[in-house]
Amino acid sequence: MGLCNAAIPTETVYGLAADATNDDAVAQIFDAKGRPRFNPLIVHVRDIAMAEAYVSFSPLARALAEAFWPGPLTLVLPRRPDSAISLLASAGLDTLGLRAPRHPLAQAVIGAAGRPLAAPSANRSGAVSPTTANHVRESLGERVDVLVDGGASAVGLESTIIKVEDDAATILRPGGLSRSEIEAVAGAPLAAPRIDAGVEAPGMLASHYAPDVALRLSVTAPDDDEAYLGFGDHHRDGETSLNLSRAGSTREAAANLFSFLRQLDAVCAEHGLKAIAAAPVPEDDLGEAINDRLRRAAAPRSDMKTS
Ligand code: TXA
Ligand code: MG
Repeated sequence: MGLCNAAIPTETVYGLAADATNDDAVAQIFDAKGRPRFNPLIVHVRDIAMAEAYVSFSPLARALAEAFWPGPLTLVLPRRPDSAISLLASAGLDTLGLRAPRHPLAQAVIGAAGRPLAAPSANRSGAVSPTTANHVRESLGERVDVLVDGGASAVGLESTIIKVEDDAATILRPGGLSRSEIEAVAGAPLAAPRIDAGVEAPGMLASHYAPDVALRLSVTAPDDDEAYLGFGDHHRDGETSLNLSRAGSTREAAANLFSFLRQLDAVCAEHGLKAIAAAPVPEDDLGEAINDRLRRAAAPRSDMKTS
């Protein structure tokens, strides 16, 4: 693939992909995103067979991959000593984050490349992840060499990241695969990351996935000068409001979340509103990941525009 990057659709969010075995190709992904080099990238493979050349699978890791690949699950596994993946992609860690995406176009691009592709979400670092080709265009524009339009991402949230050490599984990032689905296969509750996990999940910075305007959480009665992101019966009519799921489905809400945050950002700019107020979302199913992203989007930022 040389040094060409390609924005590709996946079922979670769009990724900015390049040859994971080529240091220069990986470096220009970091540059295009404005991403700090200490934050490792997810490496995308077709299947377990492709992954096995680069990481070692414990029996638990294999069981999770067999149950959920292709799909919205990233496994952080020990890097094999002879792994050909660029050290830059994994930021010098002795582990690699790998995922086999389900989207047929992502599968086709990996298959055509014939090698694993490093692909972070296709947005400027710190901004909301793209769930359509248009979002990618708005966020990265000329920094993308090839843009593959595969329609709106079906899941709409980034993958769930699980670190597996022998028979222990730790959740580093809640995402598009629910905790309960994973625990059903693991046969045990997922551990929480250690307190010093800054290094365990370097991308999980407090402020992330952030829209331009301020976000206020768990609001049942939004102010007049706020746009409203509703959920279920917490609803407001009118052009400055959107409802993530009138039916109260966290799956539907996940698919709408990033797109609606972008739309309400634009609504605030257009109507001179001061903030987005978000309705409470229950923690069940994909609610855990939705609330995680909303909290990060609401976290204080030192630099609202460029982080
Ligand atoms: O759904 C997704 O995961 C999307 C699509 C494109 O696959 N990708 C995505 O990538 O969200 P990105 O780069 O935006 O987020 C990757 C996360 C970061 O938080 C990073 O720190 C973590 O994965 N990560 C990657 N490799 C890791 C490793 N070896 N150990 C711990 N965390 C890792
Ligand atoms: Mg990202």
